[in-house]
Amino acid sequence: MSARSELASLVVHNIGELVTNVAGTGAGGPLGLRRRAAVLIEQGEVVWVGPTGDAPAADRRIDAGGAAVLPGFVDSHAHLVFAGDRAAEFAARMAGQPYTGGGIRTTVGATRAASDEELRATVRRLRAEALRQGTTTIEIKSGYGLTVADEARSLRIAAEFSRETTFLGAHVVPTEYADRPDEYVGLVCGPMLAAAAPYARWIDVFCERGAFDADHARTILACGQALGLGVRVHANQLGPGPGVRLGVELGAASVDHCTHLTEADIEALASTRMADGQTATVATLLPGAEFSTRSPYPQARRLLDAGVTVALATDCNPGSSYTSSMPFCIALAVREMGMTPAEAVWAATAGGARALRRDDIGVLRPGARADLIILDAPSHLHLAYRPGVPLIRQVLHNGVPR
Ligand code: NIG
Ligand code: FE
Repeated sequence: MSARSELASLVVHNIGELVTNVAGTGAGGPLGLRRRAAVLIEQGEVVWVGPTGDAPAADRRIDAGGAAVLPGFVDSHAHLVFAGDRAAEFAARMAGQPYTGGGIRTTVGATRAASDEELRATVRRLRAEALRQGTTTIEIKSGYGLTVADEARSLRIAAEFSRETTFLGAHVVPTEYADRPDEYVGLVCGPMLAAAAPYARWIDVFCERGAFDADHARTILACGQALGLGVRVHANQLGPGPGVRLGVELGAASVDHCTHLTEADIEALASTRMADGQTATVATLLPGAEFSTRSPYPQARRLLDAGVTVALATDCNPGSSYTSSMPFCIALAVREMGMTPAEAVWAATAGGARALRRDDIGVLRPGARADLIILDAPSHLHLAYRPGVPLIRQVLHNGVPR
């Protein structure tokens, strides 16, 4: 699409059900549902939302034909910069092997050996795959390079595709530092962070037995914060641990996985509740990982009932969750995690935006980015009701039909 068509005005009309995520609008609680609605877009922004009968004239019109329209999905957790795949590891798991995270080092070897163009092609392919499934914002982590040069190039390539980029040099301790973890932490906090930071908005650590303990994670995250990076944590994925509480202590935007939570973890998250009723630290749940590692799913109900803000994301990576599909994650969250369809759709849109501390996405109101999905279905319920079915009829990204 040319820049010219981005500047033209566009109205999407005859929307049967519009998910605005503006609470207090119409029906549907936090989804802010409107019936028989229209959205006017100018210069990549939503400028008007109202009844379809009142839709203003525009250069272009898209007739939604009574279908449901919702904000583009915000996938706030993905690892797209890698080479190779681990299909054999997946097959072994499905034959009974446990997931330990050890396979990360296999992908590190393949990633280091790949050219820039190979890595870029993989990010481009997965980014396009996600967009076709309705994802208009995707966070991209490094973490399969684990040298100064390989982490920096991973983020440089990630930044070509998203402004939501995350430095994950502390994914695991690479083999060459296996008996010198303190030295590796020094490398991450020093030259690696310095080389990566210009391309990163966020810093993340895999805080888990077998990866980084609380002291190492705190040191690394604090170094990132000192350079202005926001904090996210891979926390409590494989077992109970300190990750969630460390994230809360450091003011993390999100703690991700949250598969094994104690009451104290949930209370810590709930204690970050703000005046608008959302928690400053979001619990991002990644059910693709439990699906693909055949693990128990996170207990979303406990978090929601405690008032914790929940996001859903794919965790797209070649080891624990090789899916780029937010609709698949929504279906899993509803069927396996006790979330209602409305809660899951909110978590995959507005929840992801919260996890990235963004108020211009995940919502359809004047001033928001014109990122929206037209479904091949009359309501958002169908995203969970019709699992595995390609229901994304059309995606508009920055107001441009893709
Ligand atoms: O989020 N847990 C740490 N990192 C990824 C897995 C990466 C891999 O297995 O390659 C995750 O699940
Ligand atoms: Fe992850």
